[in-house]
Amino acid sequence: MILESRSEKETYELGVKIGRQAKAGQVYTLVGDLGVGKTVFTKGLAAGLEIEEPVSSPTFTIVQVYEEGRLPFYHFDVYRIGDVEEMEEIGYEDYIYGEGVSLIEWANLIEEILPEHYTEIRIEKDLEQGFDYRRIEVCEY
Ligand SMILES: Nc1ncnc2c1ncn2[C@@H]1O[C@H](COP(=O)(O)OP(=O)(O)O)[C@@H](O)[C@H]1O
Ligand SMILES: [Mg+2]
Repeated sequence: MILESRSEKETYELGVKIGRQAKAGQVYTLVGDLGVGKTVFTKGLAAGLEIEEPVSSPTFTIVQVYEEGRLPFYHFDVYRIGDVEEMEEIGYEDYIYGEGVSLIEWANLIEEILPEHYTEIRIEKDLEQGFDYRRIEVCEY
């Protein structure tokens, strides 16, 4: 499925919509360059899970856990990861194979440990369509 966004708000709203539909155990991966809107989308998805506290990219940890929404939410940002072993160290399997909803920004960096089934969200700019344009591809694996 290919979607288009022309503003930060549209990307956020798409996240909300997907968050509302998210089920226990579901894993979302987010792929796209720096500044493309992965965190904007993530904030929307968290809102769709009825999480009210502010969501920002985890800076000093790989994963940030939110427990007060409709389902537990595990927000990973693996941009600074050196090695997939760091994922083992934080016990990522308990999250990814748990009952909450997982979302992994920069999931392409840890491809080898992704589960069999996940929903990939790939966000790309197309400057010919304008600075705020984003092409968003949703793909089920
Ligand atoms: N259509 C759009 N969707 C999402 N973000 C957009 C869009 N157009 C412009 N932006 C801007 O792009 C930036 C995306 O930042 P962020 O979500 O932190 O990116 P990432 O997490 O991918 O590095 C924000 O400053 C946002 O305002
Ligand atoms: Mg980000």
